[in-house]
Amino acid sequence: MIKVHVKNIREIDCPCDVLILTMTEGGRVPYERLGSQVSHLLKRIYGREFKGTLDEVLLVHAPESIKPERLLLVGLGKKKDYSHENLRRAGGRASGFLRDKGLKKIAISTEYISSLKSSPAYFLEGFLLGAYTFKKYRSGRQDGMDSLTVLSQNTRRFKKELDQVKVVASSVWFARDLVNTPANDMTPSNLADAARSLRKNGSLVVKVFDKKDMQKSGMGAYLSVAKGTKEPPKFIIIEYKGAKKSPLVLIGKSVTFDSGGLSLKPAEGMEKMKYDMAGGAAVLGIMKASSELKFPVHLVGLLPATENMPGGSATRPGDIVKASNEKTIEIISTDAEGRMALVDAITYSRRYRPQAIIDIATLTGACSIALGGEAIAMMGNDPKFMDNIRKAAERTGERVWEMPLFKEYGEYLKSDIADIKNYGGKNGALVTSAYFLYDFAGTTPWVHLDIAGTAWLEKEKPYIPKGASGIGVRLVLDLIKNLK
Ligand code: BES
Ligand code: ZN
Ligand code: ZN
Repeated sequence: MIKVHVKNIREIDCPCDVLILTMTEGGRVPYERLGSQVSHLLKRIYGREFKGTLDEVLLVHAPESIKPERLLLVGLGKKKDYSHENLRRAGGRASGFLRDKGLKKIAISTEYISSLKSSPAYFLEGFLLGAYTFKKYRSGRQDGMDSLTVLSQNTRRFKKELDQVKVVASSVWFARDLVNTPANDMTPSNLADAARSLRKNGSLVVKVFDKKDMQKSGMGAYLSVAKGTKEPPKFIIIEYKGAKKSPLVLIGKSVTFDSGGLSLKPAEGMEKMKYDMAGGAAVLGIMKASSELKFPVHLVGLLPATENMPGGSATRPGDIVKASNEKTIEIISTDAEGRMALVDAITYSRRYRPQAIIDIATLTGACSIALGGEAIAMMGNDPKFMDNIRKAAERTGERVWEMPLFKEYGEYLKSDIADIKNYGGKNGALVTSAYFLYDFAGTTPWVHLDIAGTAWLEKEKPYIPKGASGIGVRLVLDLIKNLK
């Protein structure tokens, strides 16, 4: 993570490689206090090379009269179109532009954003989210940014907000790192180690169940996914008790590689199936941030981690297994493995008498087909709970879209010989996958978030680089923050 400092010094006295100046579209150049040379320069550029539209950036060399070497002009769009999300976008565009330029010391002037009656925290959140790079596997020079100096006259008030933004962004980075890491280095055991690494925060308790423990708990559905792989499955339990209340249980799909098993996936694009643990990564990110921010909540994270591989002892299509709630499941497709692992985690969560359950999962290809990369598909059994998630989605820009769970979808999952089957056919695949989970949640308020379309980006967005997006972390953190 980039180091972030807040300083109350004048922009022109701040030695840095780049000073970021934000401007809206239309209106006057707001930087008179930077001296006549800078304001002349800006007046020449503004309305010509740089108009201040949203997503626009322009890098220019600074006049010698001031300490910053360069100026990065960043457009905020029209004042009337202002939104927190647009401010985040502008921040992300700025860092996305600077990401690989080899410029180390960045500073940002925040007075103008403050004068718009907004908080620079949104811009900084976008900036930090967009500054992410994944260079672990690249040899040679690292050309990322080192530090960001936030220039503000109100350092006191601002510092608290900024500290929170830093924790949230670093938790999103943490989740993205886990997802971007290839499956040979992100096995269930590695994922368990990542969870254990969070213990250093002091307030997280991590337990990891092995195959034997799972057998004892009768997790036949989850274990059926792990039969074809040599990698031992790990059921990761991570708890944060920031309050004496019944917990909110967060379940993350954690298939560290989904080959499809014997219902093998096509070769093309299979390399991306390392991201099938993005739900689990999001849950770890949420636990990390909640504990660092000392939220007054009780959270339990459950990650039923496994690989899904073909092999001599792999589960066959047609096999029937028993889940830990005693229901028998006929396996139609071994590629519908996520739901198999999730139902045993849902059943396990009941022992905590949770106030609610959220599962986050890259569950279906049908989710990307329906919504593309623009929204999480949301389904659940409690309209009020879903309303709260919708509000969190609006605040964070991690959009959700509700899909129905009509009882007729139950028919799709009827098996001729077992209690249910794990695949109801192509039609309605997004909703029937959720319907499969629905029965296991019982009467506990439960929401399912299908992030298959949003967890991985083929093309970067303003504050999300290509690859793992870390989606779900900010959404659920915002929900938790506003829980009563
Ligand atoms: N992990 C996949 C879903 C997925 C697909 C996530 C593409 C991200 C991108 C899931 O386990 C799966 O294979 N689903 C199948 C279900 C079907 C074969 C029963 C699907 O949706 O195609
Ligand atoms: Zn699958
Ligand atoms: Zn999968």
